[in-house]
Amino acid sequence: MNTKLSSAGIFVLAATLFTAGSAIAQQTAVRERVALSEAAAPYAAAPAAVLANRRAALVDSVGAGVVLIRSSSLRDLESDYLQASDFRQENNFFYLTGIEVADSWLVVELPHHGDPSATLFMPERNPAREQWTGPRPSLESAAEITGLADVRVVDEFEEAAIAAAARASDAALPVYAPLDHRMTGEPVYEQLTAAGADIRDIRPIMAQLRLVKDDFELETLQRAIDITAAAQRAAMRTMRPGMYEYETEAVIEYNFRAGGAERVGFPSIVGSGPNSVVLHYDRSRRQMEAGDLVVMDIGAEYSYYTADVTRTVPVSGKFTERQRAIYDLVLASQQAGIDVVRPGATVADVNRAARVHMRDHSGDLCGEQTCDTFFIHGVGHWLGMDVHDVGAYSTPFAPGMVLTVEPGIYISAENLGVRIEDDVLVTETGSRLMSAGAPRSADAIEALMGQRIEMR
Ligand code: GLY
Repeated sequence: MNTKLSSAGIFVLAATLFTAGSAIAQQTAVRERVALSEAAAPYAAAPAAVLANRRAALVDSVGAGVVLIRSSSLRDLESDYLQASDFRQENNFFYLTGIEVADSWLVVELPHHGDPSATLFMPERNPAREQWTGPRPSLESAAEITGLADVRVVDEFEEAAIAAAARASDAALPVYAPLDHRMTGEPVYEQLTAAGADIRDIRPIMAQLRLVKDDFELETLQRAIDITAAAQRAAMRTMRPGMYEYETEAVIEYNFRAGGAERVGFPSIVGSGPNSVVLHYDRSRRQMEAGDLVVMDIGAEYSYYTADVTRTVPVSGKFTERQRAIYDLVLASQQAGIDVVRPGATVADVNRAARVHMRDHSGDLCGEQTCDTFFIHGVGHWLGMDVHDVGAYSTPFAPGMVLTVEPGIYISAENLGVRIEDDVLVTETGSRLMSAGAPRSADAIEALMGQRIEMR
């Protein structure tokens, strides 16, 4: 029986699932289930109380002054993007407000004495525009979503910001804003500069706040990771020699959307054979051949949080002896890195542990060199709203931080690249692997690839 996947409208699938020890054919689709409640919403904005806690943490970090946080703008239909409505909010603005409105500002005023106040400035609804791009929140519904009592039209922003900055200047207090090229191009920035305001960068403060995830963020990130692990499983079960890399990419990204993800967190990497040694190969044009290894470095973005999980698999379903030996060394080095993740340790400690393990256990696998010579990138990065999330890399680990641990060995002369990447949460006592849903050992990968789903 052929099944048309109406939501994707791309694949016509005849699927046969052979379970271990059984020749009974079952019909199925190219979809792995995400282990989540059926009732889970496809998009989850943070509750207003959570947003209020984050703003309170910002107030604590800043102390006194004025903070200006700008939203994203709508992209321009003619010059930026084909669809003006493909909107993604600016991360710091979303973190503090949870609302998807364009061309808006959050202003937080923190006097030396007296209570801090926060005001959202946003455009009023525009029925003519909404006919093109869909309904937008009203000022009243924005107040409900954000938990901010004071929501005003954006036309009032500049005057209010200048007045707040003047009060700050009078009290010798700074103005904080994200000092990127967008901010420095804003008329309000010019006016503040002309008025002699002490303008400082808010980004390092926001980065330290975002580095430690709250419970809501961890739930959201876990869902992004679960969706990504399901896509890894689906990719493994559908892969076979003769397929093109882009077909596997399509299976992956179909599973992202079917799992409720809004978009990819970064361009999917599906690199086979010679492309397995290209770290950020994202063209996906090659036909995969028996004997190839395939590096799949992918991440679904769910509700503004992105996963980042890499698996390397043999396209024919079985590793060669040499591929397995290299794979096992990368896996053991990764585990050595993960084993040192605990409060107080740093990314440098993880890097050292993974590299030392790789070096000391290379044997003659990499010829006269030790295999760490072929581990040509950093051991990992912070993970969150950005795939390479914000935060200083020297920061000692604390519970609630999430990082990737992703050693690799890339031997170009053999077209042999292996990278294994997992998402690791720092806990009170050590760490938890958030991406355990994607098979990790060579045996587990081979076992899953034996449970093949055919697609044509
Ligand atoms: N996994 C993609 C990256 O770390 O850049």
